[in-house]
Amino acid sequence: MFPEISLHILDIAENSIKAGATRIEIEVLRRTAERKLTVAVQDNGCGMDAEQLAGCTDPFFTSRTTRRVGLGIPFLKASAECTGGSFFIDSQKGRGTQIRAEYVTDHIDCIPLGDIGATVYSLILMNEAIGFFYRYGVDERQFTLDTDEMRALLGDVPFASREVAAFIREYLEENQKETDQEEIL
Ligand SMILES: Nc1ncnc2c1ncn2[C@@H]1O[C@H](COP(=O)(O)OP(=O)(O)OP(=O)(O)O)[C@@H](O)[C@H]1O
Ligand SMILES: [Mg+2]
Repeated sequence: MFPEISLHILDIAENSIKAGATRIEIEVLRRTAERKLTVAVQDNGCGMDAEQLAGCTDPFFTSRTTRRVGLGIPFLKASAECTGGSFFIDSQKGRGTQIRAEYVTDHIDCIPLGDIGATVYSLILMNEAIGFFYRYGVDERQFTLDTDEMRALLGDVPFASREVAAFIREYLEENQKETDQEEIL
């Protein structure tokens, strides 16, 4: 098991990358009054057929060849369900996959979110050819980042260039700080 939700997200996004996705959408939404945190990852990769889909929450189902168990999805599912939350996955062969996990944040077994900004930043910089859409929200506040929009503005300038990388890092950090802010009563 991972100690942080953001590491599960990284792992699930790795599946999307392996599935050949060109667009990956990641959403992290916190509803404080309900003590719920929902994470959703959606991709336009190769998808799974009904049999693969049914099997992928089982650790002994994997298309890996280096070891015989696949643990990413079962781990995420367990980490959400053990808090009294829920897990949902849907996939269509040739179209893509969507995954949603809901955590009950005040449950004793709920792991912390971790540094989701750093996770999203790494995914973007290490996969320049993939379009990432990211939404982070707390109650009524939220912000988004769409790398396809950034790419259209930047042309050939790589995201990994110093200025752009610093901009992405700061954008994620500053906006998360603002979004996390408790309502001033
Ligand atoms: N986004 C996805 N698109 C297409 N197939 C997927 C996707 N996510 C998972 N799968 C399929 O489900 C299987 C199980 O995924 P899971 O992440 O649980 O294990 P794994 O990726 O095989 O191994 P591990 O994550 O432990 O390195 C994968 O091998 C792959 O066949
Ligand atoms: Mg995996």
